Amino acid sequence: MSGFQPEKIRVDFPTLSRRVRDRRLVYLDNAASTLKPRPVIDRMTRYYEDEVSNVHRGAHYLAEQGTIAYEAARAKVAAFIGAASPAEVVFTRGTTESINLVAQTYGRANLNAGDEILVSELEHHSNIVPWQMIAGERGARVRAIPVTDSGEIDFAAYSRLLSTRTRLVAISWCSNALGTVTDVKAFVDAAHAVGARVVVDAAQAIQHLETDVQALDCDFLAFSGHKVYGPYGIGVLYGRAELLEAMPPYQGGGSMISEVAFEKTTYAPIPQKFEAGTPSISAAIGLGSAIDYVNALGLGNIEAHERGLLEAATRALRSVPGLRIIGDSPRKAAIVSFVFDGIHPSDIGSLVDQEGIAIRAGHHCAQPLMRRLGVPATARASFSVYNSLEDVEALRSALVKAKEFF
Ligand code: ALA
Repeated sequence: MSGFQPEKIRVDFPTLSRRVRDRRLVYLDNAASTLKPRPVIDRMTRYYEDEVSNVHRGAHYLAEQGTIAYEAARAKVAAFIGAASPAEVVFTRGTTESINLVAQTYGRANLNAGDEILVSELEHHSNIVPWQMIAGERGARVRAIPVTDSGEIDFAAYSRLLSTRTRLVAISWCSNALGTVTDVKAFVDAAHAVGARVVVDAAQAIQHLETDVQALDCDFLAFSGHKVYGPYGIGVLYGRAELLEAMPPYQGGGSMISEVAFEKTTYAPIPQKFEAGTPSISAAIGLGSAIDYVNALGLGNIEAHERGLLEAATRALRSVPGLRIIGDSPRKAAIVSFVFDGIHPSDIGSLVDQEGIAIRAGHHCAQPLMRRLGVPATARASFSVYNSLEDVEALRSALVKAKEFF
C-alpha cells in the first residue's frame, strides 16, 4: 500500500505497544480520537519542563520563548490549511467551540428574523445544536439538507433549498458516522451564488485529506487537534480575515483587548480578539508538532494508505454473514459503519473489545442521520496511519466470532 509501512509507524505511538485484554491492541476508533505519536508527547513535556510560562504578557525570557513557540504553532496551522495569514487562525478548545464561536458572534451579528441556516442531515450534533440555539434567539430558521440512501448530502435538494433567505450553510466535509466525503467546493460555490456564508466542519477531514481553505473558498473551517494526532483541549477556527475583523468578540477578558476603560473598551486585532484568557499553550504547541508529524508522512501518502485500508475493510466486512454496511458513497474516508440485524451495535463493540479491538458503537452524535437511515445506532471502525491489513483481518475474524455468539 503505497510504500507506507504501518509497522514502522506503530513504533512512534506508545499506546500501541501496550496489551489490551492480553492481546495486541487493534485501535480502530480513530474517528473518535487518534493516538498520539512520541514527538507530540515529547514536545509538550519539553514545554512543561523547559519553557513553561504564560504567553503574550511576560517581559522575561521564558515568556518570550513560550510566546514564540505558541505563535509558531499558529503559523504551522495556517500553512497546513492554506490560510492567507496566521491571523486567520483562532485557537479554540476544539471543533465544537469553533462552531459555537461562529454561531454566537457572526450568527448573532448577522442573522435576523426569517433568515435561514442550511445544515445537512448527516451533521454531528455540534454542527446542528449551536445553529438551533442562535436561530431560536434571532428568529431565524434551521433547515435540514436531505441525505441520500447511500449517505451523501443531496446536492440537488440543497440547490432547491438555497435562496436569498439563506444566510449560512454549515456542512461537514467528511461524515464522522459514515465516512462520506462531500464535494465541499461545489456546496461553497452554490452558497456564495446566493450570498450565503459557509462553515465547514473539517473534524473528520483534516487527518485524511489535504486542506486548502483558499481553494475551497470557504468562509469558516473548524477542526480539533485530538483527531489529527495532537492533544486534547485545542482546536482551530479558520475564518476569512475580513469576516473575523468585522465580528464581535466571543468571550471578554484579558489578552483580547486593546484598551479597557469604563467609558469604552477597544479590542485587540485578530486573532487575539477571539482568544480571551490564558490559552491552552502546551496543546497548541503539541498541535504544531502533530502537524510536523503529518507533513513528514505526507498527506498524499496517508490518503493512499487509508484508501487501501478502506477497500480491504469494506471487502472483508462484506464477507461477514449478516453484516450490513451503512453508507456506501463512492467517496469515503477510512470509516466503515455497520450493523447486524437483531444485534445491538453496543454488544458487537463489547464482544470485539474482548479481542483487544477498539471500535465505537452508538449514534455517533448524529441522531438525525440515524433516524434518516432507519437505524438506532451503528458499530464503526475507523482507520488511521498505523493500521494495517493485519488489523482489518483481526476485525473481520472477531466479527465472525461475535456473530456466531448470537
Ligand atoms: N465526534 C467523535 C466521534 O465521531 C467523538 O467519535
